[in-house]
Amino acid sequence: MVKEIIRIPTKDAELIFGITDEGKFTQLHFGKKIVEKISCDETNCLEPFEYYPMNGRGNFNQPAVDIVFPDGSSIGDFRYVSHKTVRDKPMINGLPTSRGDKDQTINIVLKEKIHDVYLKIFVTAYKEENIFSQSIQIVNRMDDPVVIERALSLHLSLPDNDYDLLTLTGSWGREVQDEWARLRRGIQGVDSKQGITGHGQNPFIALRKASIAHCLDEVYGFNLIYSGDFLSQVEVDAQDHTFIQTGLNGAHFSWYLEPDQVFSTPEAIFSYSANGLQQLSQQFHQFIEKFILPETFSKKVRPILLNNWEATYFDFTREKILDLAKVSAELGIEMLVLDDGWFGQRADDTSSLGDWQPNEAKLGGTLQSLISEIESMGIDFGLWIELEMVSKNSALYNEHPEWVIASPYREAVEIRHQYMLDLSQECVQDHLIQTISQLLANHAIKYMKWDMNRSMTDRFSQGLSTLQQRELGHRYVLGLYRVFSEITQAFPDVLFEGCCSGGGRFDLGILSYMPQIWASDNTDAIDRLRIQSNLAIAYPPSTISCHVSAVPNHQTNRYTSLDTRVNVASFGTLGYELDVTQLTLAERTEVRKQIERYKKHKEVYQFGCHFQLKPFFDQQQVAWQKLSKDGKTVIVTITNRLGRIQSTNRLLKLVELDPQAIYQVGNRQYSGSFLMIKGLPIGTVSRDFASDSFILSKVDE
Ligand code: DGJ
Repeated sequence: MVKEIIRIPTKDAELIFGITDEGKFTQLHFGKKIVEKISCDETNCLEPFEYYPMNGRGNFNQPAVDIVFPDGSSIGDFRYVSHKTVRDKPMINGLPTSRGDKDQTINIVLKEKIHDVYLKIFVTAYKEENIFSQSIQIVNRMDDPVVIERALSLHLSLPDNDYDLLTLTGSWGREVQDEWARLRRGIQGVDSKQGITGHGQNPFIALRKASIAHCLDEVYGFNLIYSGDFLSQVEVDAQDHTFIQTGLNGAHFSWYLEPDQVFSTPEAIFSYSANGLQQLSQQFHQFIEKFILPETFSKKVRPILLNNWEATYFDFTREKILDLAKVSAELGIEMLVLDDGWFGQRADDTSSLGDWQPNEAKLGGTLQSLISEIESMGIDFGLWIELEMVSKNSALYNEHPEWVIASPYREAVEIRHQYMLDLSQECVQDHLIQTISQLLANHAIKYMKWDMNRSMTDRFSQGLSTLQQRELGHRYVLGLYRVFSEITQAFPDVLFEGCCSGGGRFDLGILSYMPQIWASDNTDAIDRLRIQSNLAIAYPPSTISCHVSAVPNHQTNRYTSLDTRVNVASFGTLGYELDVTQLTLAERTEVRKQIERYKKHKEVYQFGCHFQLKPFFDQQQVAWQKLSKDGKTVIVTITNRLGRIQSTNRLLKLVELDPQAIYQVGNRQYSGSFLMIKGLPIGTVSRDFASDSFILSKVDE
């Protein structure tokens, strides 16, 4: 029997807990807000699900936590001790956390029935955004150590199983491909055991209520503020219950917790919408912009940059970079980014990671002299770095082979001719902080592309004891966050862009320090339609870095028009990545105009409310709408995958406009209600890969 209930509401959603008369802490509801008071009769017909179960006492599903106690047993039964509202949302030790409003966090304390081990659950409700966050602390108050084998951030239950599960999976160059699958009995979902979130799977998952989709589109979304091994999974049990779990992946993990020590899990973020995926995405977008992105940049428009990678790869000279900068400045581009190859002896990917001294012979002088020359053209300078790595062929590796993640008894696996530095060691973290601080303090660098190009193998750290070796993956991420935190605090005005061979680490952990991330090494506009649309299910467009590149495209060999390329790249934070000196005069004029248009509406492109106007599975066309925060500007982009003969689809329905208002597009005017009920005339965009874009302005009464 439930003797007490705890309700945690947001504007439209609600999480309800129940404490049973045996002291079990249970979840009674997660979903639409039950506005009214709940009676005893109603409480009694809600199934109470143990909120944070262990195994060994009748829970035969995946546990939320698995601890080996000093007696060797891992039978666990956590019981309610207390709960209270805490004034300030606590920081999580060593891990990024979303900023909190006052008095919105509830701290629930549970204790294992016979062992002095406590769970502290922190749940925060973000009322306006309909978002909840949760992190857990495990506190060892015993006289001996315990070993944590599994510690998830979230274990939520739904009483039924009629759901479709959305996952965003893929590979290098085709990240975040959307897949919907009907839930089946057993365990399903995504995870990473690569030491990074990885290209193969994004931690975000969603569940859509399947059986009543025709009248009500209920959707639940889950994400994690973390950048390493994770799992986001769903289990359907024999009684048709659904359990959602997100958190650290236990595959390579265990944690030795000494007496009086505390272990904190990453923070899980979850949300509910009764109005479909579109609204769920808006809720995540608003929340991430307001509470996760670094405050200096969360609302600040980002520069249009030219990155030299696809223009030159490693093969550049000072003259070439200055030529690129000169043409960029003429085109209206605001920053030149020098990518890989500026340091040590790096002429290809076989050497020099770790030796971060500018190669003055290749740069034709000091790095600062190059920067000054670029700045004199009226544009800023940005630099690429891959600090977490070391090449076997480097001075740093010769000096500190013990800084590499590798067992001294095996030859470590090389990927892209490089090893991962062991960021679990404080001295390695200090070295990285010092290296980058010197670079940033001594050069006028306004932006930094933080790359990372391999997964973790050979998990062994020379800095950890025998008992702690399985802590390495998590300690690496903690070390990385310390480096990020120190450098972003010391250089708050430098814009950092995350990158991991494209989108191999697109997650909320990175976004807590770096407000934008390179979405994919695949710059082909047609492939980017799906990658960018899908990223925006979970992440705001301002965080998605998109570039216009050359044709034929370097990854797919496809030809697309400049129009198509810029329309697609204007989806989020726009950049260019091609040899602009090779553009014809006509192309330069076109690019200049495109840049002017993007600059004029930068705020809307980057921070406007984003809507996907066609179903995600539409094979023919992708259509996006951006609506400025003040509702006065609407940007609509429609792009063909393949053209379709005799397509009669000439009106595109828009959303969320003011029905009474008049909108001007070119020399025509339409009412908001016409645009939403009938649609915007888009002509016939029938050719393969064709794209069109429309800017609508609300006419003042
Ligand atoms: C991988 C990144 O995704 C690319 O954009 C580029 O920076 C290369 N690394 C450089 O090595």
